[in-house]
Amino acid sequence: MLSVKNLTACYGESTILDQVNLAVAPGQVVCLLGRNGVGKSTFLKSLMGLVNTPQGSIVFDGREMIGDPTYRRARRGIGYVPQGRDIFPQLTVAENLQLGLGMAGGKGAISDKIFSLFPVLKTMLARKGGDLSGGQQQQLAIARALVSKPKLLILDEPTEGIQPSVIKDIGSVIKQLRQEGNITILIVEQYLEFIMTVADYYYVMEKGQIVAEGLTKEINPEEIQKRMAV
Ligand SMILES: Nc1ncnc2c1ncn2[C@@H]1O[C@H](COP(=O)(O)OP(=O)(O)OP(=O)(O)O)[C@@H](O)[C@H]1O
Ligand SMILES: [Mg+2]
Repeated sequence: MLSVKNLTACYGESTILDQVNLAVAPGQVVCLLGRNGVGKSTFLKSLMGLVNTPQGSIVFDGREMIGDPTYRRARRGIGYVPQGRDIFPQLTVAENLQLGLGMAGGKGAISDKIFSLFPVLKTMLARKGGDLSGGQQQQLAIARALVSKPKLLILDEPTEGIQPSVIKDIGSVIKQLRQEGNITILIVEQYLEFIMTVADYYYVMEKGQIVAEGLTKEINPEEIQKRMAV
């Protein structure tokens, strides 16, 4: 589904990612763990073409994406939820969802499936995005990425700053999507317990390099926690 090989990413003169290799098989939930500032968000941005990637390869669905502009990557079936969620605060929930459809080149009505995954959004369609709680905004951001039915959903720290009850809801949504098997998910996280309940496979990043990987069910929490501690 996604195969990243020897990927290097830079901001100006500074190299942030150094020869990253990472693969995601169809239907899997894969997680990228790592402490603050190691390059996790830069990695996701490089998948979307938002960062300069002078070296390496990103093959998605059998085709090289390096060189493709961001909108083309989105239209090929990647839904991206950036860190800090980034919804449109002045637009209503309904308008935010409609934009998600538009950005991926789709149109029409928002499917009922979205509201069965996120029932809270159905009751808030006319409300401004900025008036939602942090947790509701995160759910809106994920829903907005899902409306266009992406093949690959990319989430950047979905639990960051979110209250426990909503984290649980988001976990349930990920588990349900995984069970249905129509989507592949790549999550950047620092919340290890959450990842252990939702992910099949994990990678650990340190200073722009992958330093560990394995099956989540075989994870050694103490060892990983040590790598994540600041
Ligand atoms: N636009 C930018 N220009 C220059 N340097 C940047 C830019 N964005 C991030 N960086 C630097 O790149 C490095 C990696 O940042 P990145 O945001 O990818 O880390 P992260 O692992 O996502 O961290 P966090 O867990 O805090 O979100 C950091 O040293 C950061 O300061
Ligand atoms: Mg980040």
